[in-house]
Amino acid sequence: MTHPVQWRSVIAGVGGYLPHRVLTNDDLAKVVDTSHEWIVERTGIHQRHFAAENELTSHLCAKAAECALKNAEKDINEIDLIIVATASPDLTFPSTAALTQKLLKNSKALAFDVAGVCAGFLLALQVADNFIRLGQAKTALVIGGETFSRLIDMEDRRTNVLFGDGAGAVVLEGMSPEKAGNRGILGVHLQTEGQLSDILYTDGGPSSTGHAGKIRMSGQEVYKHAVTKLTDSAVKILAKYNITINDIDWFIPHQANVRIIESVAQRLNLPREKIVVTVDKHANTSAASIPLALWTAIQEGRVKPGDLILHEGIGGGLIWGSALVRY
Ligand code: UT7
Repeated sequence: MTHPVQWRSVIAGVGGYLPHRVLTNDDLAKVVDTSHEWIVERTGIHQRHFAAENELTSHLCAKAAECALKNAEKDINEIDLIIVATASPDLTFPSTAALTQKLLKNSKALAFDVAGVCAGFLLALQVADNFIRLGQAKTALVIGGETFSRLIDMEDRRTNVLFGDGAGAVVLEGMSPEKAGNRGILGVHLQTEGQLSDILYTDGGPSSTGHAGKIRMSGQEVYKHAVTKLTDSAVKILAKYNITINDIDWFIPHQANVRIIESVAQRLNLPREKIVVTVDKHANTSAASIPLALWTAIQEGRVKPGDLILHEGIGGGLIWGSALVRY
């Protein structure tokens, strides 16, 4: 009996898009009782991008996807799977992935959204990787896109300084193990703990209030879970794939707070120079933050083909986990 080929998902291209409008901490200090110093000291954030009034999540996703396709030197018609990770969809339905597909003028792919909030990109990556490994898709667009500016309570200083808008995308290509060599997604592992759903949520939704609601968060609680759960997740995924922390070239985690990123890195014994930080410029863009950070690091010439990357993320659910990817 012959075994089916196990395809490998290799990153063929990465792209990103940030809306033009930039809000500094000083801009927010005009709206609520906060200061640049407080925001930088507690979060590392200096500025964030906000979408224009007529700019929707699907628009950001389409622009990030076009950038990733260009970098992958792929045509949109080669794409047979589009997954969008978002917690700020254009509409309740159809999916933002379907609306992005329409903007991209692709009519061949299966397109759908996944809801993993700030861990959403890793969830989309895992789902796409499974499709590719099973031969159910050949070339996938995996996009994280958000307009969290629409979910912020502008009067709540505990949350309104934290978030920004943007989108990041990767093109995944199915390759035989021979062609892929050691490149590709090694593995993604995620976990959910619904008992903790009340520490990070929106106070509305289609079935409860009929409107999207605003972000509510017990910041300190989320912070503590983030540090312990992300450290634990990294230890487990490294052990599973028999990789030591010294083998990791880059740590590119979800960008919520530089203190969380540095605490996790310190617990893992990861040196500072291996950490990619973009939270200072992008703030927390939820599902978009990991691909945006990857895109930024590639543009800066830091991440190069063959580098081994550890990704991590945690979001409302709580849902959290890690991915190991050889770029
Ligand atoms: O992406 C999803 C995952 N999300 C996260 O990972 C976020 C996790 N949490 C955090 O990053 C941090 O908890 C925050 C950045 C949200 C808050 O930092 P903190 O060091 O935990 O501050 P805190 O909530 O303990 O607040 C300290 C003080 C409070 O004043 P009192 O009660 O001590 O008088 C707050 O009212 O800071 C006050 N405060 C502010 N002051 C100025 C809260 N927000 C602000 C603000 N400006 N924007």
